[in-house]
Amino acid sequence: MCGIIGYAGYRQATDVLVQGLRRLEYRGYDSSGVAVSEADGTLQVVKSAGRIDRLAARLEGAAVMGHVGIGHTRWATHGPATDENAHPHFGGSHDLVVVHNGVIENYRSIKDRLQGLGYRFESATDTEAIAHLLHSCLEDALGTEDGGLAVEPESDNYAPLVDAVRAALAQLQGTYGLAVMFRRCPGVILVARLGSPLVVGVGDHEHYLASDASCLAGYTDQIVYLADHELAVITADELRVEHRDQGHVSHNVHTLDFQQGDVDLVGYDHYMLKEIHEQTETLRNTMRGRLSVDEATAHFGGLNLTTRQLRGMERIVLTACGTSYHAALVGEYMIEEFARMPVEVEYASELRYRNPPLDNRTLLFAITQSGETADTLAALREVKRKGHPTLAICNVVGSTIAQEADGGIYLHAGPEIGVASTKAFTSQCVALAMLALYFGRLRHLSFGAGLRIIEQLHQLPTAVAQALRTNDVVQRIARKYHRCRNFLYLGRQYNYPVALEGALKLKEISYIHAEGYPAAEMKHGPIALVDEHTPSVFILPRGTVYDKVMSNLEEIKARGGPVIAVVNEGDTHVAGLADDIIEVPAVEDFLQPIVTTIPLQLLAYHIAVMRECDVDKPRNLAKSVTVE
Ligand code: F6R
Repeated sequence: MCGIIGYAGYRQATDVLVQGLRRLEYRGYDSSGVAVSEADGTLQVVKSAGRIDRLAARLEGAAVMGHVGIGHTRWATHGPATDENAHPHFGGSHDLVVVHNGVIENYRSIKDRLQGLGYRFESATDTEAIAHLLHSCLEDALGTEDGGLAVEPESDNYAPLVDAVRAALAQLQGTYGLAVMFRRCPGVILVARLGSPLVVGVGDHEHYLASDASCLAGYTDQIVYLADHELAVITADELRVEHRDQGHVSHNVHTLDFQQGDVDLVGYDHYMLKEIHEQTETLRNTMRGRLSVDEATAHFGGLNLTTRQLRGMERIVLTACGTSYHAALVGEYMIEEFARMPVEVEYASELRYRNPPLDNRTLLFAITQSGETADTLAALREVKRKGHPTLAICNVVGSTIAQEADGGIYLHAGPEIGVASTKAFTSQCVALAMLALYFGRLRHLSFGAGLRIIEQLHQLPTAVAQALRTNDVVQRIARKYHRCRNFLYLGRQYNYPVALEGALKLKEISYIHAEGYPAAEMKHGPIALVDEHTPSVFILPRGTVYDKVMSNLEEIKARGGPVIAVVNEGDTHVAGLADDIIEVPAVEDFLQPIVTTIPLQLLAYHIAVMRECDVDKPRNLAKSVTVE
């Protein structure tokens, strides 16, 4: 939530900042702004409510020139989306500027105190309190009357700035990824993080700052991940990392494997559509090198627990939010089926405060695309604090959860930019399928059974490619129903989480009310919603509960509800009953969620487009929910 970008080098800062903000827009998009340090140190700020295009238009008329700058795209937490509340915010009398990601919980008391000292606030944000607090700490550190800071941009002279930032941070409660520029010290950006991601990109006589490394694609692939409580001083030629309490620390530079095409639309109208169509490949990437035919099992390089330790686990807890939670539900079915281990799935926002009894043979998996979700991180920390091994299933390399977990599995699905998660979901499901195979083979699953699972996994990308060919059929169905105001999504067993996921996709991008239910549960309440204007989407491939779900479908038809059915190819039985059918290839039950979810992603996408919704940036949402 909220995106930060920064640049110090030889390019025009605004070019880099605007490009970076466009790529970060998925993190928040209600307002944006940049600050650039001009040659004489003057801090020029341009900001605007609304999308980055409005900021870019303002910048065109503003002629802001300079080689050092910071930018921000906002997801409002304190105060509505207005020009005034957009970042950057000035501290003092235009002596410094701040951009901030996170939430400062004690900002009100800081603001009251600073107002008492004469500071004037122009916004409703918590960030402005940081800006003025920094200014007041700077004055204290320098003992001057006007916040004057006569240091040259040489490393040794940054000490007063760092001291002032340290003093301010010590007074903040909450989370921050923040970047500051000082009028009297042009050329320098100071950054700090606690609980909100920040990376530094290292170039040739230039440095970048970003809340997400993938937005630096095409600029640099050399990335330094800042850890909590770290501060960094960034100039064109220098990167110096300090621990908030322990002084200078050395940093590692990681080479990231990303391509420009990972973050561009490459001809698609929306990132969501691009990411839906990438799934054949992303699933292959998630499985690559992890399935061993020789041993009929899966291998994971990064679990960081011995086979003996893993074999000793008797219970698994899967925790996640949103779409990742739905993947966890799929994982529960898979692990219990193949490994016969009890699995519990819990919303991270509940787990973090619920204090459930966990015995000492419990293993926690946090499932998260971004690796930054605040509730998932807090749940992981809570369970880790109790001494349990914690692993992550995560897409974003180097993210906070990936770093804090004892080990885990990367999805290798590439950057997911559309706010509605698609390819991460299917990769999470396939990672969980491999995990189920792995735990199954540690326990009672035979070599032959393991091998059959591997064969089925190998065939999965082809089945997904076929499912993607439903696009035209789905588009026609979307045209028929896109004006409906309510939808039901119904499925059983492995397809129950798919029903939840299909409903979530529809509501988040098209703003249509949709509910997902276990198909049989529908008659305990939601069936009251059924009428001729409320379509029910049945996920009904052949499998163990096929006949049962058929009965549920007939119950809906008997009440005049239109039925859209996702079925296996050649299913004439359902075709005779449903109003519309979408045919997907048959796969084993445990892989059905990965195949049946594809047309539901497409259905949500096409309906949203027909309703002229902003598919990639749905209202009120943001990717990477870093606030509680
Ligand atoms: C829905 C969606 C969200 C996320 C949720 C968790 O399409 O994307 O529900 O799944 O915010 O995010 P991660 O997986 O990054 O922890």
